[in-house]
Amino acid sequence: MKKVQIGSQEALVGEVDELCRALADEVEALLKSRAGEGKPAVLGLATGSTPLPFYAELIRRHREEGLSFANVISFNLDEYEGLGRDHERSYWCEMWKNLFDHVDVKPENVNVPPSVAENPDQAAAEYEAAIQAAGGIDWQLLGIGGEGHIGFNEKGSSAESRTRRVTLARKTIVDAAPGFGGEENVPTHAITMGVATILEAKRVVLMARGASKKEIVHRAISGEVGPDVPASFLQKHGNVGWFLDDDAAGS
Ligand code: PGA
Repeated sequence: MKKVQIGSQEALVGEVDELCRALADEVEALLKSRAGEGKPAVLGLATGSTPLPFYAELIRRHREEGLSFANVISFNLDEYEGLGRDHERSYWCEMWKNLFDHVDVKPENVNVPPSVAENPDQAAAEYEAAIQAAGGIDWQLLGIGGEGHIGFNEKGSSAESRTRRVTLARKTIVDAAPGFGGEENVPTHAITMGVATILEAKRVVLMARGASKKEIVHRAISGEVGPDVPASFLQKHGNVGWFLDDDAAGS
C-alpha cells in the first residue's frame, strides 16, 4: 500500500486486502479506545459490493481474534423505499447477511433508515436525531456511485442536505438492475443520510475498487467541489481517508 498525492488530497492505494486490513485497523483501534473509556463506538456503515471484503475482515477478527462489537452503535447510510426489511435486496437484510449476523453487535444498536414509513419526512428527521442522540458518528464508511453519489446523495445534492427522502438517479437504477432482475423492479426512492450528516462524522473513509470508478474517483478527489459530484464535498472534511485499489486509482 502506498500514499499517492492526488490534487490536494493524499490517497492510500494498494491491493484490496491491504486496504481492508488498514480500514479494519482503524475500526479496531476505535472500538478498543471507546471500550477503554466505557463509551460506545458509533459507526456509519455502507452497503454495495465495495465494502464486502472489509466486512469479511471484521468478521474474521471477531471470530479469530475476539474483536467485540458489543459496544458498537451503527447507522447505515441509506435504505430503499418500499421493500420491507425481509426483502433480500433491502439494505437491512444485506447488512445482517454480510456483517451483523456474524458478530456480537446488539440488535437494538443497529440502525438502518426505514424502508417503509408512513411519514418518510418524519422518519428521516428521527433518524437524524438518533445520530445526534448517539453523540454523532465516529467513523463513517462510504463507497462511491458511478456518478459520484455518497449514500444516495445523487448529483445535485447540496452540502447542507440532511437525512431525507430522495429520488434515485437513472444511473443508480441501471447499476442496481441486475440485482433486482430488471430496472422495473428497482425502487425509485430511498431515504439517505445527507451530505451535511456525513460531513459531521469525526472520520470519513471512502473506499473505491475497480477501473469503472477511476474517472469519478479522480473527479471526487481533485475536481471542483460541488453538487455535480457529491463525493467531492469530502475534500473539505478535515479527516477524510481515500482508500483506492490500483484500478480505481489508475496506477
Ligand atoms: P458499489 O456501490 O459498492 O456496489 O459499487 C457504491 C455506491 O453506489 O455507493
